[in-house]
Amino acid sequence: MTSPRTTLSLVDTDPAELAVDAIVIGVHSQTGEQDATSGLAGSLLLASGAESIAAAFDGKLTETLALLGATGGPGEVIKLATLGTITAPVVAAVGLGPEPSGAAPEPETLRRAAGSAVRALAGASRVAMALPLPDDADAPAALRAVAEGALLGAYRFAGYKTRPQPNRREPVAEVLVAVPDAGERTAQAEIARATAVAGAVFTSRDWVNTAPNELRPPAFAEAVANAARAAGLGVEVLDEAALREGGYGGIIAVGQGSEAPPRLVKLTYTPEGGGSGKRVALVGKGITFDTGGISIKPAQGMWEMKSDMAGAAAVGAAMLAVAALKPSVAVTGYLPMAENMPSGTSYRPGDVISMYNGKKVEVLNTDAEGRMILADAIARACEDGCDYLFETSTLTGGQVISLGKRVAGVMGTPELCERVRAAGDAVDEPAWPMPLPDDVRKGMDSDVADISQVNAGMDRAGHMLQGGVFLREFVAEDVAWAHIDIAGPGYHSGEPTGYWSKGGTGVPVRTLVHLVEDVAANG
Ligand code: BES
Ligand code: MN
Ligand code: ZN
Repeated sequence: MTSPRTTLSLVDTDPAELAVDAIVIGVHSQTGEQDATSGLAGSLLLASGAESIAAAFDGKLTETLALLGATGGPGEVIKLATLGTITAPVVAAVGLGPEPSGAAPEPETLRRAAGSAVRALAGASRVAMALPLPDDADAPAALRAVAEGALLGAYRFAGYKTRPQPNRREPVAEVLVAVPDAGERTAQAEIARATAVAGAVFTSRDWVNTAPNELRPPAFAEAVANAARAAGLGVEVLDEAALREGGYGGIIAVGQGSEAPPRLVKLTYTPEGGGSGKRVALVGKGITFDTGGISIKPAQGMWEMKSDMAGAAAVGAAMLAVAALKPSVAVTGYLPMAENMPSGTSYRPGDVISMYNGKKVEVLNTDAEGRMILADAIARACEDGCDYLFETSTLTGGQVISLGKRVAGVMGTPELCERVRAAGDAVDEPAWPMPLPDDVRKGMDSDVADISQVNAGMDRAGHMLQGGVFLREFVAEDVAWAHIDIAGPGYHSGEPTGYWSKGGTGVPVRTLVHLVEDVAANG
């Protein structure tokens, strides 16, 4: 299932003269002292970028928007018919919150606002953004935010409906961003980058949103391999025979309960001229459906476990973006895939599994399957050789309990965790460092094996940290690593908001791309 793609370009025409279906402008809510005589309009402030449109409305634009209910609050979109005052028939005013003390709004404010506006304008085919963009050193970041937000807000999963939907408004097909100089090279580069990155995020969302009967491990592996080959990446797919032969005990154990056998997909990006010398490995959890296995999950909400491959989807998609952006650093993606099912051939609590790095793991709960397949993939990545290893997974419900639905948990080498936090902050995919305490590791001592898969007494204390502590056992000594638990932010079950629709979010594709570029630039 492929969602429709939206195109993006720059324009430097006066927004009042643009021949589009709708123009998006920004409005701030005004705080503090208000002019008692100004009434409703006094609570609204027009953001920069909309000057010529305001002029065409003879100074009545904010007043009219306020009468239509605009408050300037984040996420709010108020549409206004222009009836000949400007070329575009509709103006959409998107709330940017209070005017910031500095010159321009934060990039994440712009990214979310652009997403909200484009979502609200579904049904229009050509939309222009006339949002406040600074003309200083912050300009590229602001333009990137508007471009990404607008594209991501246009996402809609194609879905499976067999009848045409007459009342459904199609996503915006074409976005124009109004800038002072559309020919400027850095601006054009940002548009190209946003197009590549948003395309990757769309692909990861499509994979997550695909029904789990259509995306069992062999089909998922094939979809990723096809996309990667088309992008020019190196592709290697290990099937169940190769995995068994190779000693990938964790992937085999989890996969053996399903008729659809497991896979390990390896994607390779080789920079021209050898790159910076550093090697990055990306590893993502690809459980195409997580029933829990023999330690079966409750029925309520189980359908959302179709998103348990969001980590692998993010890694595969980030590799596609890397192939397009061509950073000067070697990057290899590892996507272990399995379906966690209960059956007569399933692995069971009490099993001792011999993992790819030779360690023996005592299984206590077959629902802690993610760490089993990831451990093998991490060990393989370290064997192949890497300097930095970023792994991401919908690993624990504990992540959602600790940090909520928006903020990922990060565990691993402290300096690298800090780098992930900073990258997440830069791209509006927040992530927060968490510790790997000795007592949590002690609690995972097994009576019979090298380590037990979860706390030996099934104590859920430090639930998310148990995942990190377990995975650490499979990382080579000299590798800096970070485990990014996205159980919450990988999938959005609520109503659409900002540039998120319902379903797969694409988190942390943009963080991974940012990290790869960061390593290419700074080592
Ligand atoms: N895929 C789940 C984690 C998850 C939960 C992701 C909610 C997204 C939303 C994972 O495989 C799992 O089942 N974890 C168990 C671990 C436990 C058995 C040690 C959990 O979180 O309860
Ligand atoms: Mn599970
Ligand atoms: Zn899982």
